Amino acid sequence: MSPQPKLHLLFHRDEIDATVRKLAAQIKQDYHHKSPLLIGILKGSFMFMADLIRHLDFPLEVDFIRLSSYGSGRESSGRVKVVQGLRSSIKGRHILIIEDIVDTGTTAAFLIDYLQKKKPASLRLCALTDKPSRRQVPVTIDFLGFTVPDKFIVGYGIDWDEQFRYLPDICTLEGDL
Ligand code: IMP
Ligand code: MG
Repeated sequence: MSPQPKLHLLFHRDEIDATVRKLAAQIKQDYHHKSPLLIGILKGSFMFMADLIRHLDFPLEVDFIRLSSYGSGRESSGRVKVVQGLRSSIKGRHILIIEDIVDTGTTAAFLIDYLQKKKPASLRLCALTDKPSRRQVPVTIDFLGFTVPDKFIVGYGIDWDEQFRYLPDICTLEGDL
């Protein structure tokens, strides 16, 4: 059996919870009268999105899009494709993208461009985590939870090769991956 990589706690579930509540309060201030459409990028955002929406007690709609950029390893392929598209119409709506992590920025920049062409009334990005040291494409994050170091993170919906999404805390993965 190959050795399992080691996990180190980065953000405990209580810290995540406090941050999600803080983000929800900011989002509520800007969107409570706008019936926004929240678009989660699958799969990494599912846990964050569910927790966030539990604190958004005003009318909104939810949709998901599945994009592929990462293969099975750690490095982005740099190309993004829509693997599973949206059902909602975007035109004239207030759109808030929900992402787990902005790394090189390729995925978020692609989706912003893709949605902008559909003429939303507004379009903004909420990311739970940001790894600015890795940025290759400039991206504005309008609502940000945590800035993370240049390490691979997992947990709270975020995976390494489909593993570790179930962890309630966010951890860094150490060792040879
Ligand atoms: P980007 O296109 O390079 O910004 O990467 C965005 C996507 O890559 C994210 O939505 C994640 O799914 C994945 N990703 C980037 N960094 C990490 C990480 O540290 N852990 C797990 N997934 C990551
Ligand atoms: Mg993702």
